[in-house]
Amino acid sequence: MSTSLLPSRAVPVESDNQEFLREAAFGLLQPQKTLPCKYLYDDQGSQWFNQICDLDEYYPTRTESAILRDNIREIAEVVGPECRLVEFGSGTSTKTRLLLEHLEDLVSYTPIDISSAQLFDSCEKLERDFPALEILPMAADYTDPLELPFLGTPIQKVVAFFPGSTIGNFRPYEAVSFLRRVARLCGRGGGLLVGVDLTKDRRLLEAAYNDREGVTAEFNLNILARANRELGSDFDLGSFRHQAIYDEVLGRIEMRLVSLRPQVVRLANREFFFGEDEYVTTEYSYKYSLQKFDTLARRAGFEVLNVWVDSNKWFSVQYLGVRSDVAVNG
Ligand code: AVJ
Repeated sequence: MSTSLLPSRAVPVESDNQEFLREAAFGLLQPQKTLPCKYLYDDQGSQWFNQICDLDEYYPTRTESAILRDNIREIAEVVGPECRLVEFGSGTSTKTRLLLEHLEDLVSYTPIDISSAQLFDSCEKLERDFPALEILPMAADYTDPLELPFLGTPIQKVVAFFPGSTIGNFRPYEAVSFLRRVARLCGRGGGLLVGVDLTKDRRLLEAAYNDREGVTAEFNLNILARANRELGSDFDLGSFRHQAIYDEVLGRIEMRLVSLRPQVVRLANREFFFGEDEYVTTEYSYKYSLQKFDTLARRAGFEVLNVWVDSNKWFSVQYLGVRSDVAVNG
């Protein structure tokens, strides 16, 4: 590990925070300042995000839930019996409950989430409501290489669940390499049930990420508050404002924190200068056409087998099968 960015004095930083520190300092040193979006999702940020899901303007959550509800029988049939279910970024596992109720002879469920408090809280509730189900949670960053906990029971296939259009947080080339790893994890005969947000009118998109109540702004600003808490930085939260704009050419929402004035922020004994209106990018949320996502899935070793959409065609839930012509078990 590089030590050049470690504080030489004053700010005590725990080892859990070393990676955050390194990635934050690295991102802020770039010509276009960035902070990795996964750091939005600490326990506080996950709570803000749960509030976002209930906003009128934020259509993805309720639209995806409705698609799952309206098609659950067909989905359960496509997924098939006796599978092992693995979820990336499980959060409160709200949408998953529908799967847990309807999948035939489900063998085991492994929710993976970076926010451990939320993960264990939601597992407790699941254990109460699904006493017969084997739940093997993993508190982890699912973008790191991971190995699934050993299972004593034989299964038909591994099926991954990646709802919420969180796949849109990756740039397309990153999405391809992530999905390749998912394909390898699932192995032959495996599949991925994924939520993919679709391209649409920019007004709808920008409203969804700039809600009137300012919840998204709080969610976004929390990354600075978290840096202050965990890294001892001195971001002045009142001197940044939330912004989310849709880039039609790249097909993505870009979430930013814009500096309201020229200012200096200290982090890890370095000084970071922000000009007035200079911003730090905190999250991308890519939107896809069905065609574009099909191409992406193919490049990752999957084949799109089923697509379910709402009547507005705002959102899609897709079942991808691991392509049999790809070597995945080696
Ligand atoms: C959970 C990453 C899918 O991109 O729509 C919501 C996160 N950010 N509002 C999204 C988010 C701002 C959300 N994902």
